[in-house]
Amino acid sequence: MSNNIPAFKKNDPNFSTRAIHEGSDPHQWKSLAVVPPISLATTFAQDSPGNHRGCEYSRSGNPTRNCLEKCLAALDDAKHAVTFASGLAATMTITHMLSSGDHIVSMDDVYGGTNRYFRKVASRFGLEITFVDCSVAEKVEKALKPNTKMVWIESPTNPTLKLVDIEAVSKIVKKHGKAFLAVDSTFMSPYFQRPLTLGADIAYHSCTKYLNGHSDVVMGVASTNREDLAEQMRFLQNAIGPVPSPFDCYMVNRSLKTLKIRMEQHQKSGFEVGRFLETHPCVEKVLHPGLPSHPQHELALRQCYGHSGMVTFYIKGNNLEVSKKFFENIKVFTLAESLGGYESLAELPSVMTHASISAEEREQLGITDGLIRLSCGLEGTQDLLDDLDQALRKACGM
Ligand SMILES: Cc1ncc(COP(=O)(O)O)c(C=O)c1O
Repeated sequence: MSNNIPAFKKNDPNFSTRAIHEGSDPHQWKSLAVVPPISLATTFAQDSPGNHRGCEYSRSGNPTRNCLEKCLAALDDAKHAVTFASGLAATMTITHMLSSGDHIVSMDDVYGGTNRYFRKVASRFGLEITFVDCSVAEKVEKALKPNTKMVWIESPTNPTLKLVDIEAVSKIVKKHGKAFLAVDSTFMSPYFQRPLTLGADIAYHSCTKYLNGHSDVVMGVASTNREDLAEQMRFLQNAIGPVPSPFDCYMVNRSLKTLKIRMEQHQKSGFEVGRFLETHPCVEKVLHPGLPSHPQHELALRQCYGHSGMVTFYIKGNNLEVSKKFFENIKVFTLAESLGGYESLAELPSVMTHASISAEEREQLGITDGLIRLSCGLEGTQDLLDDLDQALRKACGM
C-alpha cells in the first residue's frame, strides 16, 4: 500500500514514454514538427494511378489519424488500433464482423447504449444476443452456442462497477474456438487495464472518456494483436465509414501525453471519495473495486494496475426524492452524463445513461433511483469531499 492505494499489479514504468513518443517521431514530416500536424486534406495526390505515398482518401487513411492509432496501439500493448467516430461506432463496426444467424454473448450489466445497440439494432439484422452475468465465468461457458461468434464484456461495468475475470473468460472463449472476446475497458483506460495481456482478442475504449479526458471529443477505439481481426476492422472502417475527424484525432493524441498523470490523480481522488462516502451517515453502500468492501477486490488487485475516478454509491433512503435533492445541491460536481474528464461529474443512471434499459432489467442489475455515479475529476480532492458532504447532508435533511 502506497499513498493509501492498495497493491495492484505493478504497472509498466515505460507507459508514459510510449504515450509521449509512439506515433510522434518528428522525422516522419519534412518540417520535423514535434507535434503531429492536423492534416485536413480529404484526398492525396498520387505519383501515378494507384501509386500513392501511404494515403489516398481521408476515410481510408489520414496522417493525423495514423499517428493517433500508432500511439493507442502501443498503450494497449497491441499491434493494431482502429479508431472510430464514437465508442458506439466502434461497437457497431466490431459487430459488423459477424453475419446474420450468428450469436453474441454479452455481459448483462453493460453501458446502456451498448445494451440498446445489441437489443434494438443488432437484433434487427439477424444477430441473436444472450445477456448473462459474465462476472461468473461459468455462466459464459453455459451461454456459448456453436454459432457464438463474439463475447462482449465490460469490466468494470457501468454503473455498478462489477468486474469480469478477463483471463478466465478468455480461456473459456479460446476453448470454444469459434468466437472472439472483446473487452470494453473504458472505465480504466489502458493505463489501469490492458485486456489483450489477459487473453482478450479486442480491447475497446470510448476515447470520449479518460483517453481524451477533456470532455471535448467523441471517439472510440478497438485494439488487437490478431491480424485477421485487424484486417477486417480496417476494411470495415473504410467500407462503413464511421471515422473520426483529423481535428479530433489531434486532440486525443495530445491528451494521451498526460494520460498517466491524469489517471494517477483521478485514482487518488476516487479512493479518497470512496473512503469518505463509506463513513458518511447519508450513504447506504459504496461500490469501488479498489476498496476491500468490494466483493471482487482481490480480482481488481490481480487484474488491474489501479482504479480510475469512478465511484458509485447508494444514497440513504435509495429513492428519487433524496437523489434529486443531492443533485440540486452539488456545486463542484456537475450533474451531467459522461465521465473521465478533468471536471467532476455526477449522474443518476436510472433516469440518464441507463434510461433506455427496461425498468425490470434495471431493478435486476441494482440500478435504482438511489444509485449515484460519480466521475471524480482533477479538482482539489478536499473540495470534492466538502461538496459531497454538504449536498448529502441537505439531501438527507441533516
Ligand atoms: C463503458 C462505455 N462504453 C461505451 C460507451 C460509448 O461511447 P461513446 O459515447 O463514445 O459512443 C460509453 C459511453 O458512455 C461507456 O460509458
